[in-house]
Amino acid sequence: MTQITDLEFKVQELVTLLEASKQLNSNIEMEEVLENILLQMVQIVGAEAGTLWVLDKERQQIKASAAYGPSASDILNIELKLDEGIVGKVIRTGEAELIEHVSSDPDWADRVDHSSGFVTKSMITVPLAVKGNVLGALQLLNKKDIAFFSEQDIRLAVALANQSALALHNSQMYDELQRMLLSMIRTLAKVLDARDPYTAGHSERVAKYSLWIAQKLEFDAHTCEELYKAALLHDIGKIGIADDILRKPDRLTNEEYEAIKQHTVIGADILSNMEPKDAVAHAMETALSHHERLDGTGYPHGLAGDDIPLFARIVGVADAFDAMTTARSYSEGLSFRLGAEELIRCRGTLFDSEAVDAFTAILADCDYELERYEK
Ligand SMILES: [Fe+2]
Repeated sequence: MTQITDLEFKVQELVTLLEASKQLNSNIEMEEVLENILLQMVQIVGAEAGTLWVLDKERQQIKASAAYGPSASDILNIELKLDEGIVGKVIRTGEAELIEHVSSDPDWADRVDHSSGFVTKSMITVPLAVKGNVLGALQLLNKKDIAFFSEQDIRLAVALANQSALALHNSQMYDELQRMLLSMIRTLAKVLDARDPYTAGHSERVAKYSLWIAQKLEFDAHTCEELYKAALLHDIGKIGIADDILRKPDRLTNEEYEAIKQHTVIGADILSNMEPKDAVAHAMETALSHHERLDGTGYPHGLAGDDIPLFARIVGVADAFDAMTTARSYSEGLSFRLGAEELIRCRGTLFDSEAVDAFTAILADCDYELERYEK
């Protein structure tokens, strides 16, 4: 290689690293992160195909989490054991491997080729490691145009892999935090529901119904998730309501009803302690406003129409439906069909029309057997 092409290669390498780090930092969604990493590597190193393997410590396996090339869709289904193949070896040792004649290598897990129909000739496998902790491996297969990968290719792959591993690490951490947050929210909701035997499972059901409405209204995945979490916490303020009022088997006196109404304000106040503020903003307004009604007859502030936040309007429909259709000590609870009729009767006056339309369509879709809608 002449000095100029060598220099060009170096510049290209730097530009790619810069681009990769920019893209990877701005993108936290795991699947996209992995696909970006892989695509960049395949293009820059010039490979026919590539696979990004992620170590799953919990399940003790290595999973093909992104794939590029003619057999990509088959490879995505493959899971390797920890000690299987060259990938297993690279993840175990943390050392990159350049193999020129793959088929004659003793570590080659040829079941990957067999099940995907792709024929691997030469291959680079580099570990994805952060501070010595190997998270997975990136495998580039068959150098384009020429026979084998070079030492230069492996150097570039290692440099890119170091960048990528950090992005993968961040993405995994983010994922873990989200999972932890959701499990804590669900636990809180369960603790709340457990206080009142008559409303067991209420928060989970309202969250599920709200999520279905959002999906029916074709909200994006992130908004659906936000709504689900907000709905789980909509009644969290009931933690601050005395047991003898909350669990009273008879109808409430006016005074007691006024006390119960406070759960909206208490809920928003409890959630205001959570950080970061923007992450709980939706949950706060939903807890505060899920009993507001379109015509202004709701509580706590008598908001009307679009002044009621969208999430609160949706959760309001799901909440009212669950309250109507759940048996209490003093009432049997309506059937799902009658619950839907009641929503329609109050559509546009008490309840948001679009949310009612979406939810009643869901009920009709499953012939008023919501257990079937789940499947
Ligand atoms: Fe409520």
